[in-house]
Amino acid sequence: MCGIIGYVGNKDAVQILLDGLTRLEYRGYDSAGIATVVDSEFNILRRVGRVANLIDAVDRVSIAGFVGIGHTRWATHGVVSEKNAHPHQSAHGLFSIAHNGVIENYESIREFLLGKGFTFESETDTEILVNLIEYHFNKEQDPENKFLKSVQKALFHVRGTYGIAVLCKDYANEIVVARKSSPLLIGIGSGEMFVASDASAIAQHTRDVVYLNDGEIARLTPSDFFITTLRNESVDVVKCELDWRVEDADRGGYEHYMLKEIFEQPKALENAMRGRFSDDLSTARFGGLRMSTRELRQVDRILFCACGTAWIACLVAEYLIEKYARIPVEVEYASEFRYQNSPLDKNTLIFVISQSGETLDTMAALQEAKRKGFRTLAITNVVGSAIARESDGGIYQHSGPEIGVASTKAFTAQICIAAMLALYLGRMRDMSFEDGALFVQALHDLPSVVEDVLAQGDVIEKIAEKYAHHDDMLFLGRQAMFPIALEGALKLKEISYMHSEGYPAAEMKHGPIALVSEKCPCFFLATQERILQKNVANIQEVRSRRAKVIAVATAGSELTEKFVDDLILVPNVHAALQPIVATIPVQLFAYYVAKFRGCDIDKPRNLAKSVTVE
Ligand code: G6P
Repeated sequence: MCGIIGYVGNKDAVQILLDGLTRLEYRGYDSAGIATVVDSEFNILRRVGRVANLIDAVDRVSIAGFVGIGHTRWATHGVVSEKNAHPHQSAHGLFSIAHNGVIENYESIREFLLGKGFTFESETDTEILVNLIEYHFNKEQDPENKFLKSVQKALFHVRGTYGIAVLCKDYANEIVVARKSSPLLIGIGSGEMFVASDASAIAQHTRDVVYLNDGEIARLTPSDFFITTLRNESVDVVKCELDWRVEDADRGGYEHYMLKEIFEQPKALENAMRGRFSDDLSTARFGGLRMSTRELRQVDRILFCACGTAWIACLVAEYLIEKYARIPVEVEYASEFRYQNSPLDKNTLIFVISQSGETLDTMAALQEAKRKGFRTLAITNVVGSAIARESDGGIYQHSGPEIGVASTKAFTAQICIAAMLALYLGRMRDMSFEDGALFVQALHDLPSVVEDVLAQGDVIEKIAEKYAHHDDMLFLGRQAMFPIALEGALKLKEISYMHSEGYPAAEMKHGPIALVSEKCPCFFLATQERILQKNVANIQEVRSRRAKVIAVATAGSELTEKFVDDLILVPNVHAALQPIVATIPVQLFAYYVAKFRGCDIDKPRNLAKSVTVE
């Protein structure tokens, strides 16, 4: 949510900033802007809307420079306008800032600064911060590190969250950056330094990075970087090498990132499983849990917390772990958990799931669980992300960068890991060697099964065309297919803006059936043979109210074309993996409906890829 990039070196900063912003655009696309320092003066250019608008404007306005910052905005304080776009400048023109996050006490700081003669142009909390920096700069007596010190002092008075990159026109060869709850990493080049909200923005320039921790502040110059804290403490700097290639973050010939990522799922599933089976192929193993078998056996309850699609992955994990490992599981929205003080048994294990590893509510839930002394584990995709580092242990997804705002490959990889966890914990308890071996074999075959479902893209596209004009749709499923119904409805509403709801198929009779008519088609996830007749009964109920029915069923099922209007058949796989297989059609359906409706699929309105505000 909001993307930041900064560059200091000997190359054309503008080009690097614009390239970086283009890659960061998925984090917010309300407005974009850049600032450079040339001859001790700021050149600032901002435009409402997409980065492309900014790029067009740059062609007409010369804004050179070897040091600069850029920002792509997801609006929090203040409407979407050029005035509210970043970078912001301080009242007397000494500083410019790009900020991701929310300054909670901005009103009181604003009052204070007004009293000191400062004036403001925008409605943003960020402009308050850049002026507070200027205020401290003017007061600072010690000339050494004056720029860094004034940012430190300003941040001391700030409540809220921030990832910031700050320029000072008196220090034309430096950027000062700092983070609290909003991600930031430093890219180390040769004779040049970068800063960005995420690696995609700088991976084409360097693979050597340092992830900043909360409370850290850094000064970047072309040849060096120095990291300290707001209290001037020394910091152990951990350099990492990026583990993915620049091409991974490109569209690779696909019309949209979302479609590319849907088709990357066989690979993402393979990566999630690589090296994670026992030598006798009867169970899973995980290197990063940092818990012994004895400790894991003592766990008598698991609580999963997450947001958005990752929360839906938690619901699938609940079904899988309860069924195969017989451990009671609860699932909470991270945003609810952090404020509700649920009674939890001391042997509860807390798991969070987050693709980005930076969702603020998920991070806050994790920290709350840690504060209470619980063991915390995380399933994340982004190596070195804040959540990955904050948890006691975890499992990386290795899905590669996910750029499409609507999560797809990360979701199925999360379920795959949940299935492997169910297997792993189950084998420590009651699951037999034979059942474990069958489970492992099914996991092994999964990527090619998913390939087969993806091959039906054309069929699903035709079905989507038939339904794209509707205003409402229900997604219905039972047991582990209920979360997939939720995910189908979420995907559809996110990217096509068609109103859709996911519901347990039988529960539909207790409310949503009032919506059912020829104008409200129903999408059934009906892959479970054991309860097929129950689903068929629900299908009859909605058809008798003239609803059109689309269904996903397994090949060879008794659910044939005569019961539905459109049928999508998927291979019959191990029950634990059916949720993954059934997800592919709902993703493709949502994608093609959105395409027929002419929507901006990779950048749906009002959404952002990673939500770093409450
Ligand atoms: C946003 C995204 C969703 C994502 C959710 C949680 O809402 O649009 O696609 O599922 O955040 O993100 P996380 O990175 O924590 O999985």
